[in-house]
Amino acid sequence: MYNAKLEISKLLGPLVPGLETRQIYDMLEIPPNPDMGDLALPCFKLSKTLRKSPVQIAQELASAIPQNEHVNKVESLSGYLNFFLNRDKFTGSILTYILKAGASFGASDLGKGKNIVIDYSSPNIAKPFHVGHLRSTSIGNSLYRIFEFMGYNCIGINYLGDWGTQFGKLIAAYKKWGNEQAVQEGLINELVALYVKFHQEAEKDPALDEEARQWFVRLEQGDPEARRLWQWFIDISLKEYHKIYELLGVSFDSYNGESFFNDKMQPVIQELQDKGLLKESQGAMIVDLEEEGMPPCLILKTDGSTLYATRDITAAIYRKKTYDFEKCIYVTGVSQSLHFKQWFKVIEKMGYDWHKDLHHVPFGTVSIGGEKLATRTGKVVLLEEILSKAIEKTLETIESKNPNLENKHEVAQQMGVGAVIFSDLFSNRIKDVSFSWDEILNFDGETGPYVQYTHARACSVLRKAAESGSKAAADFDSSLISSREEYQLVKSLSLFPEKIKQALDDLEPSILTRYLVNLAQDFNRFYHEHPILTDNPALRSARLALVQAAKHTLCNGLHLIGLQAPERV
Ligand code: ARG
Repeated sequence: MYNAKLEISKLLGPLVPGLETRQIYDMLEIPPNPDMGDLALPCFKLSKTLRKSPVQIAQELASAIPQNEHVNKVESLSGYLNFFLNRDKFTGSILTYILKAGASFGASDLGKGKNIVIDYSSPNIAKPFHVGHLRSTSIGNSLYRIFEFMGYNCIGINYLGDWGTQFGKLIAAYKKWGNEQAVQEGLINELVALYVKFHQEAEKDPALDEEARQWFVRLEQGDPEARRLWQWFIDISLKEYHKIYELLGVSFDSYNGESFFNDKMQPVIQELQDKGLLKESQGAMIVDLEEEGMPPCLILKTDGSTLYATRDITAAIYRKKTYDFEKCIYVTGVSQSLHFKQWFKVIEKMGYDWHKDLHHVPFGTVSIGGEKLATRTGKVVLLEEILSKAIEKTLETIESKNPNLENKHEVAQQMGVGAVIFSDLFSNRIKDVSFSWDEILNFDGETGPYVQYTHARACSVLRKAAESGSKAAADFDSSLISSREEYQLVKSLSLFPEKIKQALDDLEPSILTRYLVNLAQDFNRFYHEHPILTDNPALRSARLALVQAAKHTLCNGLHLIGLQAPERV
């Protein structure tokens, strides 16, 4: 694609001693106000090496830039060198490129032949799917789509929390107070109720803990009854999770959860032993990380049972062997940061140089009314409830605005779910978020439905144009796209590939979410200021090209953050 920034840095290269074109490229900024130009070079950093004031540097550069086809005007202003692009060339090249690329605008083959493993969602069996899991799911799913769009081969893994002592508790509780019918009817809710009851009773009667431990031992040893119940709890949970994944439009390439690694840990423990990394500490086996300033990584408990870290280490080695990944990404809450730092270090100590390809992608905590979410105390907001309320509300809006819409239930689902995912991805992922019904059900302003609505608006213009026989064609006259609003929209469109790259480098979908809101705003400003289906055929065709390019970009962008892009709303 035509890259004006690159062209300008090439022009500047020979004029700025000591700086490479690449460095100049990175220094170029977009001025806050378009009256100050389209791109600017701040000259402050150059001052030291060139031994001149920034103002003087900017002035000298302004007069040294040769005549060229990329910029119309260069101005120096308070230490900045401001460039005004040749709009005609810029607009023509960008729009032609987007129209040609269409659904693959922004895509690349950067990752060709490279594998990326993304471990996300990964809920714990027999626990409800709440807003906390939504974050891992929506961030992971968006990263998956971004990497895929950039040509990587992605492997999405739902690393189910399907193993651990909690299953001993659950089985013990079921044997004591549960019955089959209640579980069949109540599903995860009933399992949670049993789990909660176990904890309440165990406080009064510590013998219960011993019973639970024994059930877990039986489960580990393959006792048929323990296995049957455990599998049943998994099946029930997965059935509920699948409903949610379907609504969210999320799928996985593997559901190999923690239990998948049960029979694979022994050789890894042996390897740790052989490499002299295992140490006994108060009866447990650990990898000492004191030199690294971290608490030890626990590998085996006193009773010989394995831990979360033991399974993660084993799983990483397995994944490296199976997928030979370029990167293996783990999306979880920030509260698990230490856990990942610790076992990443263990992998390094084992001598695996691919430890540097392991990435923890943390996100902030979700709270409700200032309190942390907790399954055990019932402090949760279930995702299913949020989604169904959002869908219901969207349907009401459609009923009042466009009651004759053909597939209104489908659209209500696409937009209701879109609102929830979008709001989840809007903030920088590391920021803590406080869940609020008002916020999540507010569809005005910077929201998913706003972007989806804008996309549908573009589609509607294109449909109307087609009905009267006009469409966006490649041979439009770009000099007709000259107003401030139109030009601003073209500039926004041109940023899309760069934003995708940034989101990929920072593992940060919110870069795209924000970008889409700005793009939609730019489109709507243009739409309100300038009639598109005018009587002037040349102008109409040029504006339709702009609408078509915006449609492609909004659609591709929505896809990358995991939203649908309905054509009629
Ligand atoms: N099941 C865990 C939880 O809900 C998340 C697992 C993340 N993935 C991993 N490989 N540890 O907290």
